Amino acid sequence: MKQRETFGSKLGIIMATAGSALGLGNIYRFPIEAGNNGGGAFLIVYLFVALLIGTPLMISEFIIGRRAKSNPVGAFRKLAGIRTAWPWVGWLGILCAFLILAFYTTVAGWTLGYLGKSVANHFAGQDITQIQHQFDTFVTHPWLPIVCQLAFLALTAIVVARGVKDGIERWSKILMPLLLVIMVILCVKSLSLNGAAEGIKFLFKPDFSKITGSVLLSALGQSFFSLSIGMGALITYGSYIARTDNMVSSAVSVVLADTFVAIMAGIIIFPAAFSFGIQPQAGSSLAFTTLPMIFQQMTGGYFFCLIFFLLLVIATLTSTISLLEVIVAALTEEFNFSRSKAAWAGAALTAVIGVIATLSFRTGSPLHIGGTIAFDLLDRVTSHYIMPIGGLLIVLFVGWRLKRADTLDELTNGGTLKSGIRQAILFIIRYLCPVAIAVIFVSQLLQ
Ligand code: TRP
Repeated sequence: MKQRETFGSKLGIIMATAGSALGLGNIYRFPIEAGNNGGGAFLIVYLFVALLIGTPLMISEFIIGRRAKSNPVGAFRKLAGIRTAWPWVGWLGILCAFLILAFYTTVAGWTLGYLGKSVANHFAGQDITQIQHQFDTFVTHPWLPIVCQLAFLALTAIVVARGVKDGIERWSKILMPLLLVIMVILCVKSLSLNGAAEGIKFLFKPDFSKITGSVLLSALGQSFFSLSIGMGALITYGSYIARTDNMVSSAVSVVLADTFVAIMAGIIIFPAAFSFGIQPQAGSSLAFTTLPMIFQQMTGGYFFCLIFFLLLVIATLTSTISLLEVIVAALTEEFNFSRSKAAWAGAALTAVIGVIATLSFRTGSPLHIGGTIAFDLLDRVTSHYIMPIGGLLIVLFVGWRLKRADTLDELTNGGTLKSGIRQAILFIIRYLCPVAIAVIFVSQLLQ
């Protein structure tokens, strides 16, 4: 039998998972959600949800993946038996991967477009109205964003077709730390802008009266999206984790790093937004207008802008890779596709829905359902419905369906790691996570 690939090292799994987690979710989507849900109120809920629900759920996915050494569908089949409905949780995750990848590559394409714009120095000397106009013109262009999106998908397919170790691991290890460095520089610059304090107040001063059920669900959805959990991506990555790795500490490292980067994105974007007179509720254009404006005001702005968008493209690529990897692992193991055929077939299928998402930004586009554009619909269905349901089923599975002894065996690496804290984690997985997710989700349904 062919030996299943594993990540080369402990750092490998942290880097690859962080590569999956860090991406547009942190830099593009987190500020949008925070902006729409009351800033500080959102941030505080987000921190609770990410740490108390996100971390145990990430560990749960690792447990399923490493125990079964399989894609999400095969994993549930192996661990629960073929006669149960559990493999459907895996299929739901694969559907979710398609839907996310479809609208994610819309914005991924924009980052590629903006990389092009920064090479061509399109932002030089422009004021905020012109930068805003550039964004609108670009995303509503009849074919340019589609070309960018398809190019991004092709790039993803090329890396995924080459396999886990050569592809994913090598990329993530070198480039993620570099992104952090440049973000720190951007934080400093943004904080020095006129009126920056307003933005900081918006992000860090919670107005508790703004915490509503819908803010809770948005925070839950954002944490699942940002951490790549609730749909099996990390079951797939967990299946590549070596027996001896400490999954708990890996998960905690990734959650902390991901949260840190999201907060940094907030520290970059909100002070700049307030300084330039952009509404925090500006939505899709928020990052794509504030960032070029900040670079413009920096010495060496051209250079920083270029490097930043290059790194953003790469951070986004390591996320799209993890999404396509879910689909590829299922196609190769469930349907015997070759790796490269699976990668290209998955990308082609994604492209069909993806183009619809991209085109839905055109003004007067018919791609609206009940006043919501296709892009927003895909975003909402996945993070407000599929991922909470998937996440709930995953923690229920690990907490209640797997044998307690097996779960503890995974948590403690066969008894070699301390078990006190791990018993506590199991308790959280069994009780706190399912109740919290269910309450947040159901209370919103009833509204
Ligand atoms: N977490 C990534 C981001 O924040 C996006 C992502 C990658 C993702 N893989 C995922 C989201 C799986 C949900 C599920 O940009």
